Amino acid sequence: MSSAEIKILISSLKLKNPFILASGILGTTGAILRRVAEAGAGAVTTKSIGIKARRGYPNPTIVQLDIGFINAMGLPNPGVDEFVDEIKKAKMGGVPVIASIFGVDEKEYVEVACKLEKAGADAIELNLSCPHAGGILHFSQNPKEAYRVVKAVKDSVKIPVFAKLSAEVADITEIGRSVEKAGADAITAINTLKAMVIDIKMRKPILSNIYGGLSGKAIKPIAIRCVYQLYREVDIPIIGVGGITTYEDVVEFLMAGASAVQIGSAIAIRGLKIFKELENELKKFMEREGYSKIRDLVGIAHGGG
Ligand SMILES: Cc1cc2nc3c(=O)[nH]c(=O)nc-3n(C[C@H](O)[C@H](O)[C@H](O)COP(=O)(O)O)c2cc1C
Repeated sequence: MSSAEIKILISSLKLKNPFILASGILGTTGAILRRVAEAGAGAVTTKSIGIKARRGYPNPTIVQLDIGFINAMGLPNPGVDEFVDEIKKAKMGGVPVIASIFGVDEKEYVEVACKLEKAGADAIELNLSCPHAGGILHFSQNPKEAYRVVKAVKDSVKIPVFAKLSAEVADITEIGRSVEKAGADAITAINTLKAMVIDIKMRKPILSNIYGGLSGKAIKPIAIRCVYQLYREVDIPIIGVGGITTYEDVVEFLMAGASAVQIGSAIAIRGLKIFKELENELKKFMEREGYSKIRDLVGIAHGGG
């Protein structure tokens, strides 16, 4: 049996391991969320849910590149009232269920958050940062707007509230400090980055929406930079996300200052077994290198320990 301890606590959420399913990856139904939980995730995040049903964009909505993916799904979701039962089904996976939500203003965020809290969600993740849909990116690009949404939701629910930020901003720490002041219990960093791809034979953009969000390996160094910068400026936990594919990536995020990580695009490459594999690989690394707890790794790239 392994001696490395990988349980973690994010606000009041107890996770058996630091690997969380990222929003928008397989999180569209309760049954699939349950499957991901049973595959070994420490927690699962739903697809971002809004107040009303949204169809999303027509195909093509995703392109695979050597360095990752560009997607413009357009935040398709059935609307909060239809999703309530999915939370209940997802909970049968036995790990915390984080409800990702979006809205046009703080009133919508509050309404969706309250309904999903009532449905049994263990935490709310505020998607303030989708680069291609919902008109929500501005929430994570303006400290006052980010503050308003986080504060309104914090004042309305009892479960922990996470703020998911964008790297597409002059200074992510300014937004980080603002959401911390508003009461956010953790920061999730980062969302996808606005990007596009052109088909040179067709002589036109591939995605129907033209612009999409870049994810996967290509964005990892940017995500690491954001986590590192945020760790220096805020005292709330940071959940790192962006391009994590191997256990070395996980260790890098922890050392930059993340307390937990989310896995997204890499599931398309390594399959659902990635959760168990990363857990075993991380434990082996910790034993080899003499770390007994995850906490011993968090932020150590900042030195001074
Ligand atoms: C197909 C796809 C759909 C996504 N949908 C959402 C979403 O609904 N809400 C959200 O906050 N992030 C969404 N994301 C962003 C991911 O949660 C994550 O922040 C991003 O992909 C970076 O992580 P990765 O490189 O591990 O995929 C989506 C990403 C992809 C690839």
